[in-house]
Amino acid sequence: MMQASTGTGLEGRVAIITGAGQGIGRVFAGAFAAAGGIPVVAEIDAAKAQQVADEIAAGGARARAVTTDVADPASVQTMADIVLRELGRIDILVNNAAIFSTIKMRPFDEIPLEEWERVLRVNVTGVFLASRAVAPAMRRAGWGRIINMSSGAVTLGRPNYLHYIASKAALIGMTRSMARELGGHGITVNAILPGATFTEIRRETVTPQQKEAIVAMQCIKRPETPQDLVGAVLFLASPASAFVTGQSITVDGGCTHP
Ligand SMILES: NC(=O)c1ccc[n+]([C@@H]2O[C@H](COP(=O)([O-])OP(=O)(O)OC[C@H]3O[C@@H](n4cnc5c(N)ncnc54)[C@H](O)[C@@H]3O)[C@@H](O)[C@H]2O)c1
Repeated sequence: MMQASTGTGLEGRVAIITGAGQGIGRVFAGAFAAAGGIPVVAEIDAAKAQQVADEIAAGGARARAVTTDVADPASVQTMADIVLRELGRIDILVNNAAIFSTIKMRPFDEIPLEEWERVLRVNVTGVFLASRAVAPAMRRAGWGRIINMSSGAVTLGRPNYLHYIASKAALIGMTRSMARELGGHGITVNAILPGATFTEIRRETVTPQQKEAIVAMQCIKRPETPQDLVGAVLFLASPASAFVTGQSITVDGGCTHP
């Protein structure tokens, strides 16, 4: 029998979004709140985290800012403990935090080793630490959603930020393996591969000329915005995607066809 579907399926769900102090994560936090969820802004920049939570609260929805360094195991565990204590559950984790918009583009053999290690530490180890911190609560609940923000730059093999490419490629393999380990517990793990997405933040990773060239390669001929990623993240977070796991979903206006 057909049943009318009501609501977003995200009402009351607690969604931790790492690195949600600006850019894509900030838009995701607003989108979860608008869908009836409770976003947790787990961001290293305390002022930005609070600002995003305040913006959401000003719109009449619930949100919580928890200053978090995803590269620091103690900080990540404290964040998960605070969320469980104050909100009682962790349903969704969006591993969005990354060293990205501050990256200086340069040939791979000119990347300082310390910078290489820091990018992998935040972008890869940070995902391991955050996922590890939420897995016990999701297992107990028999339900969970982990969404890893990879990048279409991996498919393209974009030059001049090899540490970033290595980190985002790692997330595709981690997504597949974590999906196998967690599927028996009702937890799905998927990755989103955005194309070049233009946020409020100025950055060096795409020059104006490259932006034009990327739009020309897309089937849909306009620059991608964070709002273009909202449908994918809400779907992967919702009960509607219960049988989708281990997948990498490209949302890039048809720039690449992996
Ligand atoms: N914008 C794009 O074109 C694009 C394309 C593909 C993938 N992505 C991915 O999407 C995600 C968001 O991109 P964005 O454009 O909003 O990036 P951004 O650089 O504007 O924002 C990243 C956020 O992460 C935070 N952060 C950095 N280190 C942290 C740490 N150790 N702990 C907690 N927070 C930390 C930053 O303070 C910032 O608020 C990233 O994972 C990025 O790799 C972006």
